[in-house]
Amino acid sequence: MSVTIRRQERQIKHVNVDMSTKLGNLTIADPVFTASGCAASGQELAAFNDLTAIGGVVTKSIQLNARAGRATPRMAETPSGMLNSIGLQGPGIDIFLNRDLPWLAEHEVTAVVSIAGQSVEEYSKLAGKLRGKPASMIEVNISCPNVEDRGQVFACDKSAAASVIQAVKRAAPASMPIFAKLSPDVTDIVSIASACMDAGATGLSLINTTLGMVIDTTTMRPLLAGVTGGLSGPAIRPLALRCVWQVHQAMPDVPLFGIGGIRTGLDALQFILAGASAVQIGTVLFNDPGAPQRISRELSEALAERGMDSVQQAIGLGHRPPEVIVPELPDPPGDTLEDELYESAVADDEDITDVFIEDEWPEDQDV
Ligand SMILES: Cc1cc2nc3c(=O)[nH]c(=O)nc-3n(C[C@H](O)[C@H](O)[C@H](O)COP(=O)(O)O)c2cc1C
Repeated sequence: MSVTIRRQERQIKHVNVDMSTKLGNLTIADPVFTASGCAASGQELAAFNDLTAIGGVVTKSIQLNARAGRATPRMAETPSGMLNSIGLQGPGIDIFLNRDLPWLAEHEVTAVVSIAGQSVEEYSKLAGKLRGKPASMIEVNISCPNVEDRGQVFACDKSAAASVIQAVKRAAPASMPIFAKLSPDVTDIVSIASACMDAGATGLSLINTTLGMVIDTTTMRPLLAGVTGGLSGPAIRPLALRCVWQVHQAMPDVPLFGIGGIRTGLDALQFILAGASAVQIGTVLFNDPGAPQRISRELSEALAERGMDSVQQAIGLGHRPPEVIVPELPDPPGDTLEDELYESAVADDEDITDVFIEDEWPEDQDV
């Protein structure tokens, strides 16, 4: 991308920023993707963006069978974010593969297919159905309850998370990158991340929503019919950034998607500096459907302004050791020009306010 930067002194500089990024064996032309569940299968966003100019679309998590989702109300506004308990509403994988995925392929949009199951076997079947289909990647949404283990969320247990990824890896097309999407609702995200990588994931998507709730003070009951819901938007950005930072620090070679509250190019840059190779944007799409291309443009400008000509240069840059700044020792008394002027002024009985112009007045000088 070619960027024109207007600097303060009004000089105009043209900088070519290479926005490409690597996600496993794929090189993608742009690091900004839409996040699962916030843009269905991408069609609605096509009126606002050239979807071939962004990284790609992560489709709404698809299950084996059609699902109506949870009871309403299932959305609530929160300070700097939103709470949802949609409950993976969708048409089921077969309709998705016949109707939605072909649209993305015909329009040459990079499709990341998000799958969600209720058991390890379901995940395996879903991955198997992607053989021979025009998907570029699989994102495995493991923030789902395991019906075979008392509803325990796969993403909250190392061995459950690993079993899902292993099964998906076995069933999926051989060269298709597999990204495990993790939940922040765990004590040690690095241990879940490393279990998924050991099980065969190509990379990780960090993070899914975090569990929250709102109580309606008029009815004095939970506002969402499902009681709890997933919190998203800027409210979770610091939490998401911390997860990306910790996982990149522990596994610097693992490709990461940074996700959570990204609204601007500078927000995206924070995730890339923390170690993400690409980002996904979700909640922002509900009030700014043109955000993907805007954020991509703002990110390229931000990189250029910081003297970088590629996204690659910025990935994980926030982890470099701090520059060591050795504090300067104060000059010994009598050595500085100010001290000499002061001493000679005092000796000559001059008015010392004539000797120093105001902003050169030596600090800490007790006069
Ligand atoms: C309405 C809504 C529906 C979502 N549905 C899914 C989903 O189907 N699968 C999934 O992995 N994540 C889903 N998410 C989570 C987002 O993909 C994303 O991880 C999260 O919202 C944080 O990013 P954001 O703050 O940019 O929205 C959903 C989020 C929202 C707000």
